[in-house]
Amino acid sequence: MDIQEKIKAIEEQIENALNEIKSSKSLFELRMRFLGKTGEISALMKNMRDLPPEQRPSLGKVLNSLRQWTEEKFDRLEKGIKELELKKKYADEKIDVTIPGHRYPDGAYHPNTLIRNELVSIFAGMGFEIFEGPEIENDYYNFTALNTPKDHPARDMQDTFYLAEDLLLRTQTSAGQIRVMENKKPPIKILSPGKVYRSDDDATHSPMFSQMEGLVVDKGITLCDLKGMLDEFARKIFGESVKTRLRPSYFPFTEPSVEVDVSCFECGGKGCRLCKGTGWIEVLGAGMVNRRVLEGCGIDPDEYTGFAFGMGIERIAMLKYGINNMKLLFEGDTRFLRQFKG
Ligand code: DAH
Repeated sequence: MDIQEKIKAIEEQIENALNEIKSSKSLFELRMRFLGKTGEISALMKNMRDLPPEQRPSLGKVLNSLRQWTEEKFDRLEKGIKELELKKKYADEKIDVTIPGHRYPDGAYHPNTLIRNELVSIFAGMGFEIFEGPEIENDYYNFTALNTPKDHPARDMQDTFYLAEDLLLRTQTSAGQIRVMENKKPPIKILSPGKVYRSDDDATHSPMFSQMEGLVVDKGITLCDLKGMLDEFARKIFGESVKTRLRPSYFPFTEPSVEVDVSCFECGGKGCRLCKGTGWIEVLGAGMVNRRVLEGCGIDPDEYTGFAFGMGIERIAMLKYGINNMKLLFEGDTRFLRQFKG
């Protein structure tokens, strides 16, 4: 076959093959077959070496125009195929934004978390910092340093889970007060939320519950400062018209100690089921930090005074949301929890 015939044959092959091409992948393969380094056109070009020199230029021309013709054919077809492929891709990936999406069930904050967050934000607004102490404490921080030595009758107020002779699950976040005062000089203004543990279990008590502790120590702090701060807290959490009152009480680590009541936010103080007809609801314990506690932490009680308070978060949640059984707060029943979308 002479070279012209060969060229003709290749051109025909290309025309025929191109008619069959449907994808850019097979087009690429075809391109390699003719135009690749070891392709058919390249092979023809290599053959030129065997020709006498005077024939080479004219054949070179012919082969070059064949290569050019082929490349143009391929390029044109490739452009068309790519466009089609892109169109198809867009069609396949088309998203109908009007189709309703899948709704994921959204969660709700646990009432305890809602109250804790609310308390933190109220007290943070008054300049309190957060301190979180350990849940496993030793006897010293939970009791002794809080003026409650081993033989002290007040230890009976809190049935304790002991882990070892000297190690226990903290019964009160008050333990954190000591850790703070040991490490920080006044002025001190901390808020300490956390879980506490007591061997206690009924409709209003749970072996594990949460407390929120507060401690302020500085020069010239008085019971009036405590009262003022509590008024502000009560208004923010229970409502603007709520008032507080202090009743004498006893805690080993405060002197004087008080029990704090808020006026009943349900009946406005007239007397109802929530306040058991008294018009008042007990919400927390508090007092002026006992001199002995300050001294034990290396703080001079003649120079500094302080107040402290501690409240049960579940108790506040039960009062605020009208929950009558504490167990509901620990069972994790989503039918109950769903109601607290905050
Ligand atoms: N720790 C006490 C309790 O668990 C609550 C308490 C009372 C904390 C008076 C205080 C306080 O800081 O001053 O019953």
